[in-house]
Amino acid sequence: MKVLGISGSPTKNSNTDTLIKTILEATGAQTEFIKLSEIKVGPCIACMKCVRTNECAINDDFKWLSKKVMEADALVIGSSTFYGAASAFMKAFIERLYSKRHVKLLTRGKIAATVAVGVAAEKMVAEWLANALRAGGMEIVGSMTAKGTPCCFVCGPGETCNYTVWNAYSKELTGMDIGVAEAYRDYLELLPDNKPYAHGSARILKKHRSVADEPAVMDEAQRIGEAIKKKMEGL
Ligand SMILES: Cc1cc2nc3c(=O)[nH]c(=O)nc-3n(C[C@H](O)[C@H](O)[C@H](O)COP(=O)(O)O)c2cc1C
Repeated sequence: MKVLGISGSPTKNSNTDTLIKTILEATGAQTEFIKLSEIKVGPCIACMKCVRTNECAINDDFKWLSKKVMEADALVIGSSTFYGAASAFMKAFIERLYSKRHVKLLTRGKIAATVAVGVAAEKMVAEWLANALRAGGMEIVGSMTAKGTPCCFVCGPGETCNYTVWNAYSKELTGMDIGVAEAYRDYLELLPDNKPYAHGSARILKKHRSVADEPAVMDEAQRIGEAIKKKMEGL
């Protein structure tokens, strides 16, 4: 049995990568991990040349990657959350899977799991990923999310920048309570003179947020890997 992990996070050793690798490991199967930012998989150009052949006509790394997808019994797909959506690397990969759908729905019956990491909108990404794979006839056995490191924690000017991500998601600005302040309570202290998009003022207590420090998150990845294993045993 083969399980293929595909990460759409461009960050080295990212939280997305850690969760995908943990799931892969827990399947106990033959696994492979691929990072889309290290290869070339461009977006679908809607040429429709794949309709009868089920082969994408674009000459890039999807040529060999699609073979690995077809050989895999299970797929574990993960992405960071960028602008409320999956990364462009992941979006392009999903679009290219279109070539396998036409007429024959060649990915039908594969087992799949999805991972999304973000600051606020990661649930939408996990759901979108799962729906995209369902559209390919795959069975989703787990879809998990985790909180990651907000870029403003590591970019440098974060603490004093007027346009930080935590202020962008604030109730004052959006009218919604997205829960960023609560989720990052141990990582960030907003100072009394902080005014969203007028005057940024905060203290970053911990720069990086790693899923490896969060037992509940790691347990969920382990559980999904075991669920894939169980499903594969029944194949
Ligand atoms: C260009 C860019 C846009 C981002 N936009 C969002 C966003 O809209 N919502 C969100 O929750 N996080 C956003 N983030 C934060 C990332 O999702 C966060 O850093 C996450 O930890 C990335 O996961 P990874 O480290 O596993 O790649 C953005 C980050 C970048 C670089």
